[in-house]
Amino acid sequence: MITTVTLNASIDKAYRMGKKIEYGTVMRVAEVRNTAGGKGLNVARVISISGSDVQATGLVGGYNGKYLEFLAEADGIKCVFGHINGETRSCINVLDPVYRSTEFLEPGADVSQLEFERYLKEFPSIIADSDIVTFSGSLPSGISQDAYKRLISIVNKAGKLAILDASGEALRRGIEAFPILVKPNKTEMEDLSKAPIRSFDDVVNCGEKLYKKGIAYVVVSLGNEGALLVCKDGIFQATPPKVNVENTVGCGDSMIAAFAIAFEQKMPSIDALRYAVSVGSAAAVSVNTGEYDLEEQNRIFSQIKIHVIKEGII
Ligand SMILES: Nc1ncnc2c1ncn2[C@@H]1O[C@H](COP(=O)(O)OP(=O)(O)OP(=O)(O)O)[C@@H](O)[C@H]1O
Ligand SMILES: [Mg+2]
Repeated sequence: MITTVTLNASIDKAYRMGKKIEYGTVMRVAEVRNTAGGKGLNVARVISISGSDVQATGLVGGYNGKYLEFLAEADGIKCVFGHINGETRSCINVLDPVYRSTEFLEPGADVSQLEFERYLKEFPSIIADSDIVTFSGSLPSGISQDAYKRLISIVNKAGKLAILDASGEALRRGIEAFPILVKPNKTEMEDLSKAPIRSFDDVVNCGEKLYKKGIAYVVVSLGNEGALLVCKDGIFQATPPKVNVENTVGCGDSMIAAFAIAFEQKMPSIDALRYAVSVGSAAAVSVNTGEYDLEEQNRIFSQIKIHVIKEGII
């Protein structure tokens, strides 16, 4: 089984607008869609669509927390959340024909360090039946930036594989616990390496540096240019064919789901990369965040090109 961790969960509300947003006016929403959100829940949804066993954990609270668990279970995701006193936040994505996507992300309730310590104690039993544990997204305010680092250490100690998809200080500190895979996008990689990325060579160099620090699989996602993988087998880029992009929010989350499945199935590294890019790009074609069409993914998969940048153990 795969466990996805979402510490800063939210009810994601997608508002489909019939026409362009006009600021300072009253706008009527044509269609509303509520989903259990936060990046880890996108990951869980994609794993569930792919037919693998998945459970979602993290921190939820209040009425929104209960609603989130209801929505996740309705999507076939088993919930094993820790509960906090604060109310789970809502995030709104306004989709209109001109601006496409405008997101409003609430900051979320504070989580006390005491609540987090309680969750840490529960965590080993939560992940007991999982082989892979993914960590995604921002940290709620109130808890320290080493939260991922501490949780990943528990995963490693239990002999399981941890995948980390975060940004800023949470990513930097999380890396200190050596997750098996990290997947920064270009901006996150720039921030991590504290240097501007101006060329593809810069991406390769940053990826290689991180690999040499002890991260076994460094993936840098590159939007429509696919992704770069640095691992013991070498350095590879997988590029997708041109697709009809509908919604790129959560494409990285879909990619994390695919890597978790690939690890569970013990896929060779290049197959895992090809699979992950195909799922990410299929998610870009889907209107709904954290969803993709299997036929579309198969079509994309067969057209992905693998570029070998460096082969062999590095
Ligand atoms: N415009 C696009 N066309 C084709 N594929 C895309 C596009 N955007 C994203 N993808 C696919 O999704 C993968 C991950 O996307 P991206 O690099 O945008 O991640 P991200 O910035 O972490 O996304 P997010 O954090 O919103 O989930 C890419 O490697 C690629 O396979
Ligand atoms: Mg991302």
